[in-house]
Amino acid sequence: MTAPLVIAVDGPAAAGKGTLARRLAAALGLPYLDTGLLYRAVGRRVLDAGANPRDPAAAEAAARALRPEDLERSDLRGPPADAAASAVAAIPGVRAALLDFQRDFGRRHGAVLDGRDIGTVVFPDAPVKLFVTASPAARAERRWKEMRGKGLDAGLGQVAADLAARDAQDAARATAPLKPAGDAVLFDTTALDIEAAFAAAMDLVRGRLETSAP
Ligand code: DC
Repeated sequence: MTAPLVIAVDGPAAAGKGTLARRLAAALGLPYLDTGLLYRAVGRRVLDAGANPRDPAAAEAAARALRPEDLERSDLRGPPADAAASAVAAIPGVRAALLDFQRDFGRRHGAVLDGRDIGTVVFPDAPVKLFVTASPAARAERRWKEMRGKGLDAGLGQVAADLAARDAQDAARATAPLKPAGDAVLFDTTALDIEAAFAAAMDLVRGRLETSAP
């Protein structure tokens, strides 16, 4: 029996991973999991408890208590949730507590998962791995426009600084840092709109599946 198809989509914040991963999942008929939401929901739980997201005991307890309905919260986006998610994500006990959920999700029917460590840690054997990047300026502008669309105007400079700080923290942590898997295909979306990025990603996926077919 062949294992269900798992596609790993990793990369820094606001590189376009989520949009691409969602489109790939829809086109391939696979479930989709935004794993950043798990860390966001843990961060929110810690903030709700009045604790510090950098406190390992509080963050690990929040990760163990996570419930599916926590992922439906409407306050998982925006600067406070971004910072809390990145802080709890650096704590090894939090990552360990979330690992089985991610693996079970992918193994059940196959899936497209996006995050930071899907191709390196969660599914190191995934046959298709994309590492999606874009220039810091392009990513900051996209995130800034997205925030303005929601009525939040933090200023482009502030958005760029927040993204850079979060990526630096995600890449510098000791456990499961943000980095491309050795066998990931690097995918730069700086000069691509959503349709062009999706078409190019589908070509990559088809190519990878053909070369990895038995
Ligand atoms: O993808 P996102 O921006 O929603 O992720 C929020 C934070 O969660 C991000 O700063 C780092 C962390 N994260 C992680 O460490 N590992 C993942 N697989 C997904 C997200």
